[in-house]
Amino acid sequence: MKENAIWYPFCILPQKLNNISTKQAKGVYVIDENNKKYLDVTSSWWVILHGHSHPFIVEAIKKQADVLCQVGFADCTHNPGIILSNKIIEIINTENAGEKFTKVFFADNGATSVEIALKIAYQYHVNQNNKRKKFVSFEGSYHGETFGAMSIGKSSGFFDLFSDLLIPVDFLPSPFTWKEDIEIENKENIALLEIEKYFLQNHRNIIAFMFEPLVQGAGGMKMIRPEFINKVMQIAKKYNVITIFDEVMTGFGRTGKMFAMHHLDYAPDIVCLSKGMSGGTLPIGATVVNDKIYQAFLGEKPDKILMHGHSYMANPICCAASIASIELFNIENTIANIQEIEKTHNKGLKILAEKFDFVHKIRCLGDIAAFDINLKMGYSNELNSKIRLLAREKGLILRPFENTIYLIPPYCITNAELEWCYNVIAEILGKII
Ligand SMILES: Cc1ncc(COP(=O)(O)O)c(C=O)c1O
Repeated sequence: MKENAIWYPFCILPQKLNNISTKQAKGVYVIDENNKKYLDVTSSWWVILHGHSHPFIVEAIKKQADVLCQVGFADCTHNPGIILSNKIIEIINTENAGEKFTKVFFADNGATSVEIALKIAYQYHVNQNNKRKKFVSFEGSYHGETFGAMSIGKSSGFFDLFSDLLIPVDFLPSPFTWKEDIEIENKENIALLEIEKYFLQNHRNIIAFMFEPLVQGAGGMKMIRPEFINKVMQIAKKYNVITIFDEVMTGFGRTGKMFAMHHLDYAPDIVCLSKGMSGGTLPIGATVVNDKIYQAFLGEKPDKILMHGHSYMANPICCAASIASIELFNIENTIANIQEIEKTHNKGLKILAEKFDFVHKIRCLGDIAAFDINLKMGYSNELNSKIRLLAREKGLILRPFENTIYLIPPYCITNAELEWCYNVIAEILGKII
């Protein structure tokens, strides 16, 4: 990689210039300047859905760019925005067991969709002459890098440096689970008692309860049972607390259903979307609300207006890409493909766990698979980097979090390609002990 003026994220400076110098990306592969192919089993920070540069989405982008690239959304509207908002409402409501969603507020990435949700929730109460003071979330959750998102994600431990500047948030336990976790019901029951007690004491002060449903992504691909979330939702409903699901990572098929909420008996009041929304081609996000929330913003005078907007919100090219990506789910029978991926994940995880006694806490939901490494000699960042580099040599992009290795491939991956990923991981694990 050439010397340049870029300040890259998440690296010690000055950076050792070892990023893949990418020339092209197609399907599941990223291709470097020397034509070496790398299988992108992380879906490029979990955004790629149907594969890199899918021709159907690329065509939609080209067509849209020819007629309308960008226009301010406060003065103008456009068909791509209108069609996309209706499609999102339709696909969320189809399998939604709870209250229906009615309105889409556009954002331009995941963190802004979270900020919008926090502001909507706060102003929902203010618009009804009710000031509330605190947000609440689950321990270990992550929601992005902006200040509101850092506050809700404070317990992830990523933002300790900024802790003096964050808004008040309380954190509740959410026991995570894995295959053959026999203790889980017990852990959940203890957590539920604590949650019920917290809501009983604090519910009048809670602005909203926000969390990542079923899978905590950046927290380590930690999986939480739908049975537990259903009980938590019952408690939140009982105390009339607004709920916000951050489906930035879990949305658009990752969990084997279109949205994680479709595994549940309840829907939240607000949901945040981004990442896979455009199939992973362009930045876009959305904050979607039900009618109870929207009604609180109606009024004759300007004092109820949600004072929020972004220059590129509902960018027409991003909207066109997102419409095409949603259409691909039907054209390519994507949800059925994800079920196939889940089966291959389960086989691959089982083989790893049988082969290596330090592979434990194996877990899988839809497209997402993960396991932890439990080495007696301890686990280090060096080991983490070594695993990444060994994978890179073999032509696999892996990005473990501490001692968690995860796979979250694009949905076009074949069984043979996914099996190859597990073989490479087995080879690497064999080398590190
Ligand atoms: C659950 C969740 N919410 C929000 C975000 C932030 O999204 P973005 O990076 O687009 O700001 C992320 C990013 O990883 C995420 O996983």
